[in-house]
Amino acid sequence: MQDPSVEMRGIVKKFGAVTASDQVDFSANAGEIHALLGENGAGKSTVMSMLSGVYRADAGEILIHGQPARIRSPKDAALLGIGMVFQNFRLVQSLTAAENIVLGEKSSFWRGSKWMRNKREEIEALGERFGLKFPVDRPIWQLSVGEQQRVEIVKTLYRGADIIILDEPTSVLTPGEAEQLFATLRVMKQAGKTVIMTTHKMKEVMASSDRISVMRKGKMIAALKTHETDELELARLMVGREIAISRQEREATEGAPLLVVRNLEVAADHGRNALDALSLTVHEGEIVGVAGVAGNGQKELAEVLTGLRTWRTGEIIFDGSPVKTASVRAAIDSGISHVPENRMKSGLAGRLGSVDNLLFKSYRSEEHSRFGFLKAARNRSWSQELVRRFNVKTPELDTPVQQLSGGNQQKLLFAREVSHQPKLMVAVHPTQGLDVGAAAGVHELLMELRGSGSGVLLISEDLDELLQLSDRILVMYSGSIIGESDHEHADREVIGLMMAGIRSVEGSAV
Ligand SMILES: Nc1ncnc2c1ncn2[C@@H]1O[C@H](COP(=O)(O)OP(=O)(O)OP(=O)(O)O)[C@@H](O)[C@H]1O
Ligand SMILES: [Mg+2]
Repeated sequence: MQDPSVEMRGIVKKFGAVTASDQVDFSANAGEIHALLGENGAGKSTVMSMLSGVYRADAGEILIHGQPARIRSPKDAALLGIGMVFQNFRLVQSLTAAENIVLGEKSSFWRGSKWMRNKREEIEALGERFGLKFPVDRPIWQLSVGEQQRVEIVKTLYRGADIIILDEPTSVLTPGEAEQLFATLRVMKQAGKTVIMTTHKMKEVMASSDRISVMRKGKMIAALKTHETDELELARLMVGREIAISRQEREATEGAPLLVVRNLEVAADHGRNALDALSLTVHEGEIVGVAGVAGNGQKELAEVLTGLRTWRTGEIIFDGSPVKTASVRAAIDSGISHVPENRMKSGLAGRLGSVDNLLFKSYRSEEHSRFGFLKAARNRSWSQELVRRFNVKTPELDTPVQQLSGGNQQKLLFAREVSHQPKLMVAVHPTQGLDVGAAAGVHELLMELRGSGSGVLLISEDLDELLQLSDRILVMYSGSIIGESDHEHADREVIGLMMAGIRSVEGSAV
């Protein structure tokens, strides 16, 4: 048996009344990809954050390459060769990729200097070696999410990390980008690095990890070899009981058209059209799935429908009335709910607690305020009830929501968005970052909305999710809908081809 490169023993971390890490033992080896699994709120990010010096443990010890280590800051961790790639990247938007990577090494540098040119070469060589491609000289804000992640990874490598931690790295990636990432992780593994990652995607874990640790409610409950386990056993370990992942039963519904979009044209941030002659219809009691590779206009479509973005030409008719201008207020008032792509950026206010976040869209209604004064006691009990019903795990109702685990943030957002029975729900990647149980919960909710006559526009890159839930699947490519398939006849392969822009496939006429 090999000596572990990372060993954590009896690690305890409390946040107020919550014990996020309860006597946790964990070990990982050099030259392996180690997956850390667990439900939302199980304590995965907390444990990894202690290893990377973001949090300090209340008790326990950490050994790095067999030596007791004192990790009290990210700097301590970096000196020990530990680097972490967080889910929310920590890059400076206005600086270039290369500048972000060398940031902190020198108090000032200028772009054309010899020093910078050498660094740039070094960075490119690292990227080359580990299969991490990105435009080195472009400012971060011009890079795609996948590229930004590569910058973060190169940054840890550049600083000499040989223990690399990635917190849910694939939840923001397209399937193709995820494949590339795993290729990179394999190169790291071959180079003798220790790779530790958290994820909720069981298929990825089975395909790419060597060993697996499972956490449940703050405790480490199992360490397994990947080839000795399977998805079912992992799900059981995480949740603590058998879970049946059932296929949703559905009855066909015949609703009136709720949302009709005709020939919509929307300008993109970079000039060309983000939406181009786009037409679609959502009926009452119908879930319409939108499949497509990110960046083909899905974001813009969701933004137009929820009043966040204007359009150039085309027609939107909602609930029988034409929509004249883009207005978030009007969209909310007419009964359109929105679960956005990036919940911390545009869905929730991180520093506020659950009550404020739940009231965000409806505080002006009679139910919640009177003569401009909020009905405080009533709103609290209303929030309490939603938190309970949606099973949001939060220490207190007023705990800033940025302290909740990713999954619990998403549940809170959903609670708000369905609390006033929307007519139309526009959901973008609604189960991103959710554990198996919570994802099933969201799926049930969407089916309930459908059952009660609401329309749902489900934008997702997860084909399994789309195939399971959608009455019809539309395929979006380059700003238009280029294909459609109903629930019965939906075919993975055909849809996959259309996602790549190949439209003339037999039996899938538009
Ligand atoms: N800064 C903090 N302050 C208070 N509580 C926190 C803080 N960070 C985490 N917690 C709590 O600790 C517990 C573990 O959270 P953690 O983020 O580690 O879970 P996780 O396993 O990473 O979940 P997810 O899969 O949803 O990301 C949760 O109950 C969370 O609310
Ligand atoms: Mg987490």
